Amino acid sequence: MSTLFSLEGEVAVVTGALGKLGPVWTEALLQAGASVFALDRPGVPATPLFGELQARFGNDRLQLAYADVRDRDSLEEASRQCEQQLGLPSVLVNNAGIDSPPAAADSGHRLEDIPLEVNREILEVNTLGMFLVSQVFGRGMVAARRGSVVNVASLYAGVSPDARFYDHIESDPPFLKPPAYGASKAAVVNLTRYLATHWAPHGVRVNALSPGGVLGGQDETFRRKFCARVPMGRMAESGDLAGPLLFLASGASSYVTGTELVVDGGFTAW
Ligand SMILES: NC(=O)c1ccc[n+]([C@@H]2O[C@H](COP(=O)([O-])OP(=O)(O)OC[C@H]3O[C@@H](n4cnc5c(N)ncnc54)[C@H](O)[C@@H]3O)[C@@H](O)[C@H]2O)c1
Repeated sequence: MSTLFSLEGEVAVVTGALGKLGPVWTEALLQAGASVFALDRPGVPATPLFGELQARFGNDRLQLAYADVRDRDSLEEASRQCEQQLGLPSVLVNNAGIDSPPAAADSGHRLEDIPLEVNREILEVNTLGMFLVSQVFGRGMVAARRGSVVNVASLYAGVSPDARFYDHIESDPPFLKPPAYGASKAAVVNLTRYLATHWAPHGVRVNALSPGGVLGGQDETFRRKFCARVPMGRMAESGDLAGPLLFLASGASSYVTGTELVVDGGFTAW
């Protein structure tokens, strides 16, 4: 079997590991041979899916710890734990983020009235948090002169969410995806380039992975409208995401840095 995408013996850090996509990245990394140090916000309960991965791969391959991506002290503590329990990481998946789907509380606003606080929290977690985690875990990679950082951005880093996807949802004021979501992800793509250029001489690659809409608990009308906009005619599924992640995380992409890999079924090609 080809070892091109292998992460055998590597240690990977995944933030936001207890959400929807966290276990997808975690499983892909474990299957490629890495050990995974999974991080999430204090107080978030481990999900059954995550529990299954722990049972399958064991504690010596998968550890869970808590840190807020906005809190440098808690990240420094997590970094110490990671090195003690699994070793120095060579892969970092910056996945933690606030997405604000229609089910989120307090999501109906008129554009002119969206509270700044909503936007501020999204920017703090999605952009500044991603930068802080990169500083803390990137330091060891720079010192070791090897590593791959994958920043999970979004389709909406490049285009604005189409409000018509949501206009069937009964809400007054109507549901509006906060403008900070796309702005925070566009900033992630630019920060990716910034980090990539600074760390390239130190052997650390930094890339962004931008998924399109991932099939989850969306209502049927949303799914129908969304899929009609996708050249491939469907939403992304977990299996569509593992390959792109492993490509960026492994030596298969050894000459790729500072790029955005868009995994959107062609959404942005139209
Ligand atoms: N699901 C999609 O359709 C989709 C599409 C494109 C991009 N994305 C991006 O993928 C990433 C994961 O999305 P998801 O769908 O799994 O979302 P999710 O809400 O299910 O998971 C996000 C995780 O991040 C954690 N988190 C939030 N704030 C944090 C903080 N301050 N400190 C530490 N952890 C924190 C949450 O606890 C949660 O476990 C996000 O960055 C999201 O923007 C998702």
